[in-house]
Amino acid sequence: MNRNRFCFFLPFLLLLSCTNQMSKTSPTTATSLPAFDKEGHRGARGLMPENTIPAMLKALELGVTTLEMDAHITKDKQVILSHDPYLNPDHVLLPSGDEIPAADAKKYVLYQLDYEQIRQFDAGSKRNPKFPEQQPVKTRKPLLADVIDAVQAQVQREQLPQPFYNIETKSKASTDGKNHPAPEEFVKLLMQVVEEKNISEWVIIQSFDVRTLQVMQQQYPHVKTSLLVENPKGIDWNLEQLGFTPNIYSPYYKLVTPKLVEQSHAKGLKIVPWTVNKLSDMQQLQQMGVDGIITDYPNLFQEL
Ligand code: G3P
Ligand code: CA
Repeated sequence: MNRNRFCFFLPFLLLLSCTNQMSKTSPTTATSLPAFDKEGHRGARGLMPENTIPAMLKALELGVTTLEMDAHITKDKQVILSHDPYLNPDHVLLPSGDEIPAADAKKYVLYQLDYEQIRQFDAGSKRNPKFPEQQPVKTRKPLLADVIDAVQAQVQREQLPQPFYNIETKSKASTDGKNHPAPEEFVKLLMQVVEEKNISEWVIIQSFDVRTLQVMQQQYPHVKTSLLVENPKGIDWNLEQLGFTPNIYSPYYKLVTPKLVEQSHAKGLKIVPWTVNKLSDMQQLQQMGVDGIITDYPNLFQEL
């Protein structure tokens, strides 16, 4: 290449190398959250067994923009979906199909069992009396990796809009090492799956445990975070405990007031309350200006 030609191409070469560098060092941060986020709680707990693949697919079918789910870690360090740290007799059956005896209600701790053992239990056939519309289906507690595969396959097959994954780290300081690993390890294992599946721009990590969100902020600042709140101490106190401003403030819905919505927006936060299961409450919250709603009944969004 002669000197004149080289000078002509130089700016393009620099731009190319700069773009390349950026993609290595700063993963995408730009994906915006939905204008109004319709979140299916534990998939669609009101309609299908919670935190299972059928619940996630049901929520997708109903047009949610985000799938809410709870994460735990097994003894063999796999990321699994479950709200409770143990196999809850309210909605899980023994591998034999029998009920878990009341005396063993907290016996089967996920962090003390390998996934090979956990997957033998039936997490979908027992009707949950709190959710009479729930459709029983024989299914297991799924690995996060399998949930992502099933959702992405459905999105492709049905040509659906890409949903967000709002994944909750189920941890607290008092049960570190007993029910789950300490925050650094929990987050590392969870983010390994997210990165392997290449969905980090579509992920929100949510928690009541500020420690896991702090690890996220330090190690994965490009990934969205949501602070879960159920105390009445107010947004300033809660953000002070966290020590940084996440993307979303996610309070128990009865804590939401027009003032809280205004405060959240003034701080540049979206506000997405949980878990709202009555249409009238949804409408009231929407009138207050919340940015989304987490519900066990994503079918209600059609009526909003
Ligand atoms: O996303 C918020 C909500 O899921 C928190 O409550 O106990 O149902 O996980 P919980
Ligand atoms: Ca949750």
